[in-house]
Amino acid sequence: MIENIIYKIEELKKEKNAIILAHYYERPEIQDLADYVGDSYYLSKIARDCKENTIVFCGVKFMAESAKILSPEKTVLLPNIDAGCPMAEMADAETLAKVKKEHPNAAVVCYINSTAEVKALCDVSVTSSSAVKIIQNIDKDEIIFLPDKNLGEYISEKFPNKKFILWNGFCITHKKVKVENIESIKILKPEAKVLVHPECEKPVRAVADFIGSTGEIIDYATKSLNNEFVIVTEEGVLHELKKRNPTKTFYVPGTTMTCVNMKRTILEDVYESLLYNQHEIILDEEIRLKALASLENMHKLGG
Ligand code: 13P
Ligand code: SF4
Repeated sequence: MIENIIYKIEELKKEKNAIILAHYYERPEIQDLADYVGDSYYLSKIARDCKENTIVFCGVKFMAESAKILSPEKTVLLPNIDAGCPMAEMADAETLAKVKKEHPNAAVVCYINSTAEVKALCDVSVTSSSAVKIIQNIDKDEIIFLPDKNLGEYISEKFPNKKFILWNGFCITHKKVKVENIESIKILKPEAKVLVHPECEKPVRAVADFIGSTGEIIDYATKSLNNEFVIVTEEGVLHELKKRNPTKTFYVPGTTMTCVNMKRTILEDVYESLLYNQHEIILDEEIRLKALASLENMHKLGG
């Protein structure tokens, strides 16, 4: 019974002084269970500032790692150990060290979707909602950006006077959508506004009415006077969109935008995570301290 497991989770949460955080791409029942649901930037702030001493992070590994980097005194648990982000794995510290040598004057900026080892070599981390503001505050003319080529390209278009060295990473979920998928909806629903995540490829971004993070897409649709939207990001955001906007209609492109990693975490994982303190994020202290600087700079410059 679903109520039973939720009750047991709530009891354990009190007993262990824990907080549950969930990203908008998580399953609906996980979002409903969480104390806070949000985009990557918002969740990293909650993780840093919360008073509880245990954080159950329902998201993917780099998110839980970022929470641990920011709050080493807290126990950070990733309920499903297989919830990784393939894009984060596309950048490695060894190759980055070589690229840095080739561009010694460049600022090194990583998307928060990266490993702790990569963050440790970067000047600042960014999220999709904070990237433009942060890069505005960087006074260097040359920027190494990794791992997401699409987000990097999107940002670089806003700074024509800076030179960007882009990594070749991508999100498999966002890469899948093609502009034809959106056009076929627009033929039937010409009034619908197209809301796109910057992890999508350039031709898809080009047909967007609005480009933003998951949280920004939800806010845009909620505040808009429009009643119809094409949502071009992982389908998990539909849960919050429909909750906040019961009278509006949301269409999805004709391809399933599901991140299998975000969907790995189920209620049983959250229960076992609290019961057995699993899977605890443990980081090498030297790496953590270096990576901390990049996340602190993210909050300072993006604040
Ligand atoms: P945001 O929630 O910051 O938009 O991030 C999207 C994402 O892909 C997380 O993995
Ligand atoms: Fe990684 Fe893409 Fe999944 Fe986000 S949606 S966790 S970027 S694979």
